[in-house]
Amino acid sequence: MAVETIPTEAIAGQKPGTSGLRAKTAVFRQPGYLENFVQSVFDVIDAQGKTLVLGGDGRFFNREAIAIILRMSAANGAARVIVGRGGILSTPAVSAVIRARGTDGGLILSASHNPGGPEADFGIKYNISNGGPAPERVTGAIHEATAKISQYRIMSEEAPAIDTIGEVPLAGMAVEVIDPVETYAALMQTLFDFDAIRALFASGFRMRFDAMHAVTGPYARHLLEEALGAPMGSVVRAEPREDFGGLHPDPNPVHAHELMTLMLGPDAPDFGAASDGDGDRNMIVGRGCFVTPSDSLAILAANAHLAPGYSKGLSGIAWSMPTSRAASRVAAALGVEGHETPTGWKFFGSLLDADRVTLCGEESAGTGSTHLREKDGLWAVLLWLNILAERRLSVAEIMTDHWARFGRDYYMRHDYEGLETSVAEALMADLTARLPDLPGQSAGGLTVAEADRFDYTDPVTGDVAMAQGLRIGFAEGARGVLRLSGTGTSGATLRVYLEAFETQRLDCDAAEILSPVAAAMDALAGTSARTGRRRPDMIT
Ligand code: G1P
Ligand code: ZN
Repeated sequence: MAVETIPTEAIAGQKPGTSGLRAKTAVFRQPGYLENFVQSVFDVIDAQGKTLVLGGDGRFFNREAIAIILRMSAANGAARVIVGRGGILSTPAVSAVIRARGTDGGLILSASHNPGGPEADFGIKYNISNGGPAPERVTGAIHEATAKISQYRIMSEEAPAIDTIGEVPLAGMAVEVIDPVETYAALMQTLFDFDAIRALFASGFRMRFDAMHAVTGPYARHLLEEALGAPMGSVVRAEPREDFGGLHPDPNPVHAHELMTLMLGPDAPDFGAASDGDGDRNMIVGRGCFVTPSDSLAILAANAHLAPGYSKGLSGIAWSMPTSRAASRVAAALGVEGHETPTGWKFFGSLLDADRVTLCGEESAGTGSTHLREKDGLWAVLLWLNILAERRLSVAEIMTDHWARFGRDYYMRHDYEGLETSVAEALMADLTARLPDLPGQSAGGLTVAEADRFDYTDPVTGDVAMAQGLRIGFAEGARGVLRLSGTGTSGATLRVYLEAFETQRLDCDAAEILSPVAAAMDALAGTSARTGRRRPDMIT
């Protein structure tokens, strides 16, 4: 039983992106790659005497990574590591355990909605003691440490088995294996009216939850079927698999097309939902209608007071900048604070900690609240169920009612994937340079009213995040946003976000309403000409 100090060399590019460090699994399995990053985290936080939570979404390499991190935690003097049985913890569950147990932070192993497997993706993220992703000043320090690293510390002995609940020692450190679901499920019970939701299911309400062979399966089975009485079989693809059954565990109409087909078909249940690889994203579908994540955030915000955990109302609402302005309309109507933040959950943490906002969300299917410091897929599903149980309207009726009150923000996202980085960066740089000249110009039949680069100052901490995307507002009430993805693992992905506000035309096809906005954005940015792509690779 000895601490080994292994010499290592810095590996370029270990820079946490929108949500931690992501790379191909093969890259993560290269000698030293995971170890260098973990040692850099431990150097920055000083792991000595610390209690950490550790778990992942069960994708390929999860177990090996957990074993390495346990041995490194012990060698770096950590007092205790709380690990999910079998190495499993959803991202929101890690946040819940960090907060419930008051630990110093945690490590999450996941590449979220990216596919898993030896040929696919892996990732690691460090969360701080509030349960949320490390803010930029911490991720920046970790990145600097990865550039300077020359050695890492690891125990020579094997890590203990983690398949039985209980406590085992590893050198001087305690390895505490917990049930992955328990703490999280207990938290949900404090927020929602389980009796009301049980009564809803007892009245014949039917739902389908597609866990996409990802981490949420056991959580959804326990909460929806066992605790709330949804008919057995309501949760499908509930067994987590190392490769997510070969699927892309991204809950959107494209990747969750089976659920979409069911929900738009003749025998659709009342409510459909799905979650992603690590359980922090959600997709909501009613019978015959898809709810965009931006609308879902706005609807949840407008109705949250119907659930016990939010009965006192909201202190404010936050949304990431490319998210539609639907949530901002609700904040204005409720007379509460509204905050537009850069993309990525780490920017919500300070606002939630200061209780400046109660609910927050992103267009990319993330919604959450003060209950945690991560977005939370199943939480969003339960809040929807609580609202449906109280209002006893269909999802479609709730949406129609919302739009009649607030107007409708039609919304779509166009992604251009796997672009050459130089092409994508040049497109952004050229458009940035032209921003001051755009107001007054017409494109695609629309007139630019304003154009800027989004630079953000955190109103709580004063931290500044520059160049978080380009915003173009049109005189006709539409808006387009452009930014480069910070989660990709190969080449560059350009995201073009399109929205249009309507108060009269409430029941139209989004693609039709947004086609002039798409044309205008293409004309202004030169996307198709520069990329050679006539259409986006992905439309959500
Ligand atoms: C994407 C989403 C963003 C989300 C992130 C992590 O990041 O756009 O909203 O926070 O995944 O789930 P991007 O690839 O756009 O940087
Ligand atoms: Zn995720």
